[in-house]
Amino acid sequence: MTLPESHAHLWWARPERFTDPAELARYRGMLTDDERMKTDRFRFERDRHTCLITRVLVRTTLSRYCDVLPEQWRFRANDHGRPEILEPASPLRFNLSHTNGLVVCVVSHDREVGVDVESLERMGHWLDLAERYFAPREAAALRRLAAEQQPARFLEYWTLKESYIKARGLGLAIPLADFSFDLPAGSPDDIAIRFTRAIDDASSRWQFSLERFGAGHLIATAVERNASGSVCVTLHEAVGPLV
Ligand SMILES: CC(C)(COP(=O)(O)OP(=O)(O)OC[C@H]1O[C@@H](n2cnc3c(N)ncnc32)[C@H](O)[C@@H]1OP(=O)(O)O)[C@@H](O)C(=O)NCCC(=O)NCCS
Repeated sequence: MTLPESHAHLWWARPERFTDPAELARYRGMLTDDERMKTDRFRFERDRHTCLITRVLVRTTLSRYCDVLPEQWRFRANDHGRPEILEPASPLRFNLSHTNGLVVCVVSHDREVGVDVESLERMGHWLDLAERYFAPREAAALRRLAAEQQPARFLEYWTLKESYIKARGLGLAIPLADFSFDLPAGSPDDIAIRFTRAIDDASSRWQFSLERFGAGHLIATAVERNASGSVCVTLHEAVGPLV
């Protein structure tokens, strides 16, 4: 598969669709010892399964674009925990996100990318977090909404914010109050980010997408633009068997 420089591909998989024991054993064989240990540390089988599918989705996704076997990839975490390709050297960049029932991996050609997926089931518990952690203008925009619209909009802000801090590779080292999104009513297609002076970044550098995925999930991507302008982000399903 080719990945033009002006594109980013967003691969998704439903972990529960991967059930064949022989296939899962083969997947497990693709992991490094560290990845197997990480997978085994989860207390619940569902989480161990999601972790396995996540690792295999990343490996098989990267291998779609070059002549490297899925088990040959080696990763390292940056100072803030973001996994990045260590070997073999590659211009590919990726980021992943997982939640109940969905795993996603965004991949690009030498541009920063971040992705976050959230389950809409989790709505309704986090509204006070907006007051505490979001930018004041985001919290104010939420307060102006009708009560029944607030949980979904909160989650939209949250998912976008996560996609940005993940694209930067800095995670929560970036205070969530130091940048904000303008979200028009309805489903936004032109999403703008603003920064306080504390953040050394330019809003023109980033392109965001936000969409409902199926009945239960929300996905946001943050993709670095380059001089040639906007990036085409397309969705692809990773169907089993992955290898
Ligand atoms: C780790 C973090 C980057 C994202 O966490 P998250 O949204 O809970 O989880 P996601 O599934 O979207 O992302 C996790 C993946 O991001 C990647 N990741 C980890 N650190 C990262 C970083 N600094 N930058 C980019 N990606 C990172 C990893 O691949 C990780 O998955 P893995 O450990 O299985 O490899 C960070 O933003 C965080 O800890 N957020 C806290 C989330 C939180 O507190 N949620 C509750 C809100 S009340």
